[in-house]
Amino acid sequence: MKDLDLLIQLHITQTRQGPGSQQDTLLAAQLANLGANTALKIADIGCGTGAASIDLASNLNCDITSVDFLPEFIQQLKSRANHAGVNHKITPLVADMAELPFENDSFDVIWSEGAVYNIGFETGIRDWKKYLKPYGKLIVSELTWLTDERPDEINEHWNREYPEVATAGEKIRLLEQHGYKLLGYFPLDEASWIEQYYAPLQARYQSIKADYPHRLPAIQRLIDENEQEIALYNKYKQFVSYGVFIAQKVD
Ligand SMILES: C[S@@+](CC[C@H](N)C(=O)[O-])C[C@H]1O[C@@H](n2cnc3c(N)ncnc32)[C@H](O)[C@@H]1O
Repeated sequence: MKDLDLLIQLHITQTRQGPGSQQDTLLAAQLANLGANTALKIADIGCGTGAASIDLASNLNCDITSVDFLPEFIQQLKSRANHAGVNHKITPLVADMAELPFENDSFDVIWSEGAVYNIGFETGIRDWKKYLKPYGKLIVSELTWLTDERPDEINEHWNREYPEVATAGEKIRLLEQHGYKLLGYFPLDEASWIEQYYAPLQARYQSIKADYPHRLPAIQRLIDENEQEIALYNKYKQFVSYGVFIAQKVD
């Protein structure tokens, strides 16, 4: 992939690699009713540099397997988990979410923030279900329409970029069709996009230029793409967000 190394370097210094917040992670954990006497076994799939894994490990009795296919992100997660004093609760794993090396019925919880789109929502909820124990919980955040009707520009953009984009109702129906019961749902608010994700990314523009002075044209392309995405978000934020779906395996 073109300039993947720079994309990694743009994101690796960030707490999160997608929209979300510690508050959102803990709200989802609360809606999933994740209190337990014995340590919960959790898989965080597409964990990036570990924002959710570290928040969950800091707040729950759990053992987390944190999976991402980028070794650079997993290395960063290790050092952050160490720094947060939760490394003993986290097993980092470099693996492809499409070919996970897990046993069936092995997790109480599958967690995935802003990452299932890489294989598609329906494939993810269908293929990952076997790794959950009976009545295990699934928490996924996913690009979701907030309204039934949208302006053409945003409608066409997301239908082209991610044809599985749909309303929460349609996502919930898919969860039910695949043997889950919905326990909760909320859309991410604007702060989870701007304050938690886009603003820190914009703050990185200067330092990445200083880190790679011989790659300025490629960096500028990345910045331009990012700024286009931010402008689109700001223009149409009442129509689209990430939805957080909290569900339970019931068959
Ligand atoms: C938008 S980021 C979200 C990261 C993190 N969950 C967060 O919210 O900060 C998506 C993550 O999925 C990872 N990813 C993409 N495709 C993957 C795959 N096939 N297998 C495993 N991880 C993948 C990326 O490396 C990236 O870290």
